[in-house]
Amino acid sequence: MQSVLITGGAGFIGQNLVHAWRAARPTDRLTVLDAMTYAANVRSLEPLIADRSIGFVKGDIGDAALMQRLFDQHKFSRVAHLAAESHVDRSISDPEAFLQTNVLGTFTLLKTALDHWRAAAKLDTARFLHVSTDEVYGSLGPADPAFTESSPYRPNSPYAASKASSDHLVRAFVATYGMPALITNCSNNYGPYQHPEKLIPLMIIHALEGKPLPIYGDGSNIRDWLHVSDHCSALMHVIEHGRTGETYNVGGRNERTNRYVVSLICDAIDAAFAADPALATRFPSCPAAAASSCRTLISYVTDRPGHDHRYAIDASKFVREFGRNFDVGFETGLPQTVQWYLDHEPWWRDVTSGAYKAWIEQNYGFRRAV
Ligand code: NAD
Ligand code: TYD
Repeated sequence: MQSVLITGGAGFIGQNLVHAWRAARPTDRLTVLDAMTYAANVRSLEPLIADRSIGFVKGDIGDAALMQRLFDQHKFSRVAHLAAESHVDRSISDPEAFLQTNVLGTFTLLKTALDHWRAAAKLDTARFLHVSTDEVYGSLGPADPAFTESSPYRPNSPYAASKASSDHLVRAFVATYGMPALITNCSNNYGPYQHPEKLIPLMIIHALEGKPLPIYGDGSNIRDWLHVSDHCSALMHVIEHGRTGETYNVGGRNERTNRYVVSLICDAIDAAFAADPALATRFPSCPAAAASSCRTLISYVTDRPGHDHRYAIDASKFVREFGRNFDVGFETGLPQTVQWYLDHEPWWRDVTSGAYKAWIEQNYGFRRAV
């Protein structure tokens, strides 16, 4: 039985990880710590909090006194560190928050865990998993080989730079203090509970509401999509069976252009409306409600500054060491994700009220059709 701290557990991947962990390792004690920024939502965790299957603390990883109190109280033996500012576009308009949480917050959490495990003589058995991104490696050209664990760090956005800094801190804590830490660098996730500021949910919701689908630049940028369920099972594997001090790349081998991804979303929505006439009543502004295609909403807009062209992950070290692969193919997982958003309208209506509207105005108000 482990006492597990999951930071950022009310975010997209965090919520999925909490549910996956609860199901796979029911005897572990889970504590979720989350600052409840705009990106957080505890609706899916409420039943687990209510029946005390998990503990929940609203707080900041940068609050050293709180971190120490939590370690003293719960004696964590596992930390899965996911708390972060995570959206590239926001890092362009407000980079400071990224340095505060991703760099300084990670430092405070690392130091608290190290001090606690040293004092308790637990450095041999405890594990700290730092969840990072492929964006630290920068951008690939069309013919470049996929990123491996030894690819050089070349971050291009403030988000990627802040995650790169935190990876370096973790590495330094391992080398200098013997911190029992591991790092995963994974590709773009998709699936249930993703915040609608990110590509896939944004496009699904805009299409349902009959709004333009704003593809940055010419849409030829490539991301390597990983279903969040595959990511969460990889994280649980790495924290238990990975070698401390190691980095593991995690990716779904699903390289797709943004243009293709948005077209596939449109086709999945069109097909769902054709199969279920009740959707036309729920979403009358969607072109599919009038037997037209959501593809008519596609609009190419001003590009993101410093927009990385291509990410691709070589996960062969993970596959070799753990004998596991990734199950969810993109052409299966994407229509399932569209269906999840169709089935969870109250969830995304809740998330897209209030401050979300101000973000849409800020990020898309200035973008012109190209
Ligand atoms: P998210 O933005 O959906 O969730 C992040 C969570 O962290 C939110 O609930 C937020 O409230 C919380 N948080 C932010 N600042 C905090 C602070 N100071 N203290 C405590 N909690 C705080 O992000 P996500 O997509 O779930 O990503 C989780 C992790 O995985 C991040 O570290 C991210 O860099 C990494 N990652 C994500 C992806 C992806 O495609 N989503 C890909 C690679 C790596
Ligand atoms: P995003 O979901 O923000 O993830 P990341 O930038 O971390 O990869 O974006 C995924 C891709 O989709 C990226 O190439 C930018 C692009 N994109 C658009 O074309 N339009 C949009 O409105 C958004 C949010 C993203």
